Amino acid sequence: MKIAVIGTGYVGLVTGVALSEIGHHVTCIDVDPSKVETLSKGIPTIYEPGLEELMKKNMAAGRLAFTATHSEGLAEAAVVYIAVGTPKRADGSANLDYVEAAAKDIAHNITQNVIVVIKSTVPVGTNFHILNVINANVQPGIQVKIASNPEFLREGSAVNDTFHGDRIVIGAEDEATADTLAEINAPFDMPILKTDISSAEMIKYASNAFLATKISFINEIANICESLGANVEEVAKGMGFDHRIGPDFLKAGIGYGGSCFPKDTNALVQLAGNNHHDFNLLKSVIEVNNNQQVLLVDKILSRFGNLEGKRVAVLGLAFKPHTDDLRESPALVMIPKLAELGADIIAYDPIAIDNAKRQIKEEIEYTEQLPTALQNADFAVVITDWPDVKNIDLSEYNQLMNDPIVFDGRNCYSLDAVKQATIEYYSIGRPDQT
Ligand code: NAD
Ligand code: UGA
Repeated sequence: MKIAVIGTGYVGLVTGVALSEIGHHVTCIDVDPSKVETLSKGIPTIYEPGLEELMKKNMAAGRLAFTATHSEGLAEAAVVYIAVGTPKRADGSANLDYVEAAAKDIAHNITQNVIVVIKSTVPVGTNFHILNVINANVQPGIQVKIASNPEFLREGSAVNDTFHGDRIVIGAEDEATADTLAEINAPFDMPILKTDISSAEMIKYASNAFLATKISFINEIANICESLGANVEEVAKGMGFDHRIGPDFLKAGIGYGGSCFPKDTNALVQLAGNNHHDFNLLKSVIEVNNNQQVLLVDKILSRFGNLEGKRVAVLGLAFKPHTDDLRESPALVMIPKLAELGADIIAYDPIAIDNAKRQIKEEIEYTEQLPTALQNADFAVVITDWPDVKNIDLSEYNQLMNDPIVFDGRNCYSLDAVKQATIEYYSIGRPDQT
């Protein structure tokens, strides 16, 4: 099958590469010529484990190409995926400008019948709206079908999730379109749910909102545990044995970040509100998360009183490990607060520093070496549970820092290990070790 993918971000690039790996001929189109130039050399523009090898292999096999010219990418495509961004508008709703622009790009350049598949996360009703936009702009006589195929991959494990995720959802209006998409996706190792378009659109928002709810729930429990002397890790473990609850997404910490949970929860609140439903539960989930992202600052302040002249090692910048993505990372909230309080900051991250420099305005030092960050620090703050932060020999905190004081936003260490290492340790939802 000849396929075009519009947008080569996390979703578009991984989708294009995966579809080529299962045998389709894929052209990925992006409006950013510098991205296309890099990708055309076989170099991924994002960090995702396993992506580069698959990209190079399928480019060499002639099944994968990149272009900045829509007419070239869309030529002969039977199916076109839209995988452009749907960022948050100021009012919380999803900004559909990029999806609409991609729809017009398709309409203005397509010369054959085509199925347009919206992979971007879009509010219920968007697929029909986009079909209208395309039909209003396409050459007469060309038949366009639309389908919703929301994406569930996680950054940092995007390639693995694409091949071995939990499900593929296909929302289509007619059986033939649903069957074509099911056939395209058949080689992927997961169940396929065929449904109507509106339900497919809602499945995506409801899934992200539910996962965000689990995180805010356990974070609230963590905060209550702190007041009562209980340990949230034990509580989550005990809850997780119940298969109706499940052990996943019950890790307490400094709140969820990333390009999707914050934006999609806000978009669903907005979508519900526009349809006369006050989604109070989800509003609380968002509020809990906003408070959670600054919780450690309060702990730091009550320990030190004042941060003037204190050297702080910020461990991790990405919103989660194995990605270079900083979008909505708690680091973007913590660093300005620490800087405003007078701290002298050195930030460690193994791969996200280039992105960080573009997004963090404060004058701070950066290092890709964990020991360099810890050297002579007065305290450390764990933002991202990178494996080398989790697996550090705790005696290094003692050896390298001025004072071995750690504020851990990701509960990386067991309290027993911390006690043995004699470090001063503050985590989330567990008793302080002082
Ligand atoms: P992104 O911002 O990383 O990438 C979007 C890309 O589209 C950019 O490279 C941009 O240059 C390109 N683009 C914009 N308009 C274009 C046009 N008209 N023609 C060609 N290219 C165009 O986005 P992303 O993180 O991949 O997310 C895309 C969508 O997928 C969003 O709706 C997001 O909510 C959803 N999603 C993302 C993830 C994730 O982990 N990032 C997971 C599931 C779903
Ligand atoms: C999330 C979903 O997991 C994907 O299914 C979805 O496709 C994607 O959003 C999307 O729509 O973009 P992602 O944001 O890449 O994926 O990462 P997650 O692993 O879900 O983590 C999100 C945030 O929640 C991170 O900041 C992480 O640290 C935090 N988290 C996660 C917790 O604080 N506790 C947990 O138990 C799990």
